[in-house]
Amino acid sequence: MARTQLNLAAHVVRLESQTDFAGWRDAARRLATNDIPPEDVAWQVEPDREDGASELPAAQADARLVVPRDFIERAETVICHCDPERFGFLYRLLWRLRSEPKLLSIATDPDIRRLEAMEKAVHRDIHKMRAFVRFRKIGEGADERYVAWFEPDHYIVERNADFFVRRFTGMRWTILTPHASADWDGERLAVGPGAAKRDAPAEDDAEALWRTYFENVFNPARLKVKAMQKEMPKKYWRNLPEASLIPDLIAGADKAASDMIARMPTSPAPHHAKVKAKHWPTPERSDVVAPEADDIPELREEAKACRRCPLWRDATQTVFGEGPENADVIFVGEQPGDQEDLAGKPFVGPAGKVFDSILDDAAIDRRKVYVTNAVKHFKFEPRGKRRIHSKPNAGEIQACRWWLDKELDLVKPNLVVALGATAAQSLLGKAVPITKMRGDVVELEDGLRVFLTIHPSFILRIREQEDKEAERERFLQDMRKVKQLMGA
Ligand code: URA
Repeated sequence: MARTQLNLAAHVVRLESQTDFAGWRDAARRLATNDIPPEDVAWQVEPDREDGASELPAAQADARLVVPRDFIERAETVICHCDPERFGFLYRLLWRLRSEPKLLSIATDPDIRRLEAMEKAVHRDIHKMRAFVRFRKIGEGADERYVAWFEPDHYIVERNADFFVRRFTGMRWTILTPHASADWDGERLAVGPGAAKRDAPAEDDAEALWRTYFENVFNPARLKVKAMQKEMPKKYWRNLPEASLIPDLIAGADKAASDMIARMPTSPAPHHAKVKAKHWPTPERSDVVAPEADDIPELREEAKACRRCPLWRDATQTVFGEGPENADVIFVGEQPGDQEDLAGKPFVGPAGKVFDSILDDAAIDRRKVYVTNAVKHFKFEPRGKRRIHSKPNAGEIQACRWWLDKELDLVKPNLVVALGATAAQSLLGKAVPITKMRGDVVELEDGLRVFLTIHPSFILRIREQEDKEAERERFLQDMRKVKQLMGA
C-alpha cells in the first residue's frame, strides 16, 4: 500500500541510509530550486533497490534559495529521528521557509513544535547513550578490546561516535546497536551495519566494579523512584550491570534511610571516597571529556561527570546554572552552599532567599534570568555535623571557568552580574577589589559587559540591624541599575 502511494508521487528520492543528510540536502536543493512542491515527492531509504527512484533535475544555479543556517543544523539533528516521515517533513519546512523566512521563530506553529519535539527526542537519546553505554572487556593483552550493546530509540550512532572516540581514545572498542555499529581501533573510526544483542559478550570484571560503585553511592534518603526512572528509564536497565541492584535497593530504601539518618555523615564514608577515587576519571586522565554540548540541558548533563578539580570528591553533586537559555542577564555567584549542594540548584539557601527578595523589589523576575556560580561544586570543611563553607582557590576557579564560558556562549547574555569577589575573579581573570569597584561595568575583550557588586551573603553576615538594612538598600540600588542595563 505504502509503496503504491509512493510510486504515485511525481518524484521519488532514494536516500543512501537512514542518516543520509548529504543526500537529503542535495535532493532538497534540486527539488526546491525547480519549484517541486512537497506533495509531489516521496522519500525512501532503500539503497539496494535498483528501480523506482527518479532522476532529479539539477539544482537551478540562478534560483535563489536562502536557507537559515539554524535550519540546516536542526535538520541535521532531526534526520536522526526514527519517524519515517522526517525527510518529507523537513522538505516541507524548507519549502515553507522560502515564503516565510521567520518561520523558525514562530513557536506556536505546529510544524515548529514538531521540529522542536523531534530535536529534543534526538538530543535526549544522545544523552542516554552517553550515560548508559557499558563496555565489556574481551580478550587479553594485544587482543584486549571493549564491546557494548545499546538500543537507542533513534538513529544516533554515527552522530554520537565522535564523543566516544574522544572519551575512550586509548581503548579499542565497538558499540553494537540494532541499526548500526561503531568501531574504534585506536586510530580509525568505522561505522557499519547493525547487530544483534547476542553478538555482544555478557559479564566481565568491570561489571562487578560498577556494581560496587553504584551500591556505595546510592543514597536511600534521596531516593525518588520516579525521578530515577526518568533519568535512567527502565528499558536501559537490562544492559546496565548496576541495574540488577536497583530493585533490592528500592525495597530496602526506607530502612536504609532511617539507618543513614541515625549515622548522619558530614563527609563521605571513607569507603565511598576510595571507590570513587579508584574508578572515576580524574583531571590527570585522558578520558575527561571537553564539553561540547549544543544546549544548556546537554551541558548540565556533561557537567555531572566533571572531574576537572578535586572538589567533586566530597560534594554531593554538580550544581549547574539554571534559567532560560535566552536570558538577557546571567548572575554569577561564588559556589553552591550546603543547601544548594543537596538540592542541586543554585541560590536556594539563605543567601538565595536574600537574593530573591531583593530581585523582587527591583522588579527583576528570577524566572527570566540565568543564575549560576563560578564554581559548581560545594567546597567545605566538615565540622562536627556541619559542613562549613570554604572559599574556592584560584585553581578551582580557573578549572571551573571552562563551564562558565560554555554557559556564556550558549545563553549569550546582554549583561553578566558578578556577585562578589570569586565571580569577579572568574569573569575578569584576575582578583579585583570588589568594594572599590562595586557598581562598575567592565567590558571584556569580546564586548561582554560585567557589572560588579557584592555577594548577597555579605548582607546576611552583618549583625547590626541598621547596617544590614543599609547594605540591603545599596544592593537593591545595584539591582535597579542591573535592571536598567539589562535592556540597554
Ligand atoms: N552562594 C553562592 O555563591 N551560590 C549559591 O548557589 C549559593 C550561595
